[in-house]
Amino acid sequence: MRLCIIGTGYVGLVTGTCFAEVGHQVVCVDCDAAKIAALQAGQMPIYEPGLEELVQRNKAAGRLDFTTSTKEGVDRADIIFIAVPTPPLPDGSVDLSFMEGVSRDIAAAMTSYKIVVDKSTVPVKTGEKVAETIKRYCKARVEFDVVSNPEFLREGFAVEDFLKPDRIVIGVRSPRPVAAMKELYAPFNAPIIVTDINSAELIKHAANSFLALKISYINAVAAICEASGANVEEVANGIGMDKRIGRAFLNAGIGFGGSCFPKDLSAFIRISEDLGCPFHLLREVQRINAAQMDRFIKKITDTLWVLKGKTLGVLGLAFKQNTDDIRMSPAIELCQRLLKEGARLRVHDPKAMPKARAVLPDVEYVDDMNAVAEGCDALVIATEWEEFKKLDLERARKTLSHPILFDGRNLFDPAEMERLGFIYKSVGR
Ligand code: UGA
Repeated sequence: MRLCIIGTGYVGLVTGTCFAEVGHQVVCVDCDAAKIAALQAGQMPIYEPGLEELVQRNKAAGRLDFTTSTKEGVDRADIIFIAVPTPPLPDGSVDLSFMEGVSRDIAAAMTSYKIVVDKSTVPVKTGEKVAETIKRYCKARVEFDVVSNPEFLREGFAVEDFLKPDRIVIGVRSPRPVAAMKELYAPFNAPIIVTDINSAELIKHAANSFLALKISYINAVAAICEASGANVEEVANGIGMDKRIGRAFLNAGIGFGGSCFPKDLSAFIRISEDLGCPFHLLREVQRINAAQMDRFIKKITDTLWVLKGKTLGVLGLAFKQNTDDIRMSPAIELCQRLLKEGARLRVHDPKAMPKARAVLPDVEYVDDMNAVAEGCDALVIATEWEEFKKLDLERARKTLSHPILFDGRNLFDPAEMERLGFIYKSVGR
């Protein structure tokens, strides 16, 4: 099938590339000429495991192409995906100006029937607005359908999630685009839910809010574990074995971050208020998430007392493992707060150091994770990178001026750390 994906961010680029991988003909559009030129030259704007190889392969096979022209993209496709940013506004609502702008551009370019699919995360009822806008601005007066098709891709696992989805959600206003959408997704062999547009849009916000709620739930339990001497991991395993609950997203830590959960929570809270049914529970989810970071920092200052003049090693800057994304990263927030307390920082992240330099200019970047601890008063783990589990602990213990490790992601076994001679403080254990 012939597809056009507008927006080559995390979602758009993964979507376009994976559709090409299963045999569709894809053109990706972006207004950022430098990004398109780089992609044409085979350079990746983001780090996402497995993506580069797929881009190269599908480009070489002639199934994946890049352009800055929306007109060209729309002309060359029957199904057009909108995958543009929907950033938060200061009041928690969503900035839909990119959505609106792209809807108008698509409308202006359309000369025959098209299916316009929204992949961006948007407030409920946005699909209606997109349809109104296209109708208003389409001079050619051609027919079209608007579809809501939310994405459920985790950064760092986006290719895997796209190729092996749990489910596909297709929100429509009429039955007309359903057959084409089903054909498009047939290669993925996943259950397909066909529903109305408003429900599809709500599925996305409700899913992300629920996952954030699960994390805040276990973080609140972690505080109770610390106060009572229980172990949050044992509790998570015990409740997670109940199929109705599930073990996923019950890892206590320093709180959730990233470009999705914080933004989507705020947006969902705002939408619920606008609709006259305020979702107070989600405000508590936010409050627990903020408190989680406060508690972790208190743990550090309770142990080290004054941070001014002390040097801390920090492992992890990305908002989670397998990504170079530092947007709303708890690890970055942690660094900023430690710096504010007067600490000096030596930091390392397997992928996020280039992006971190812009927001953390006054820290020392260390290329080798095993060298971070050298001369530090304590070591802090801020991101759940798998490779941190392979840290040379013996070397860290010897090179730290005090063998203190604050583990914000519970990567190590407390008993083993004690045996190795560490003062080891993790979360909820
Ligand atoms: C999230 C959702 O998981 C995706 O399904 C969704 O498509 C995506 O948002 C989106 O809306 O685009 P993502 O933000 O990439 O994906 O990251 P997650 O893997 O969900 O992690 C989010 C944050 O929660 C990270 O900071 C992570 O460290 C934290 N987390 C996650 C925990 O603290 N504990 C857990 O048990 C799981």
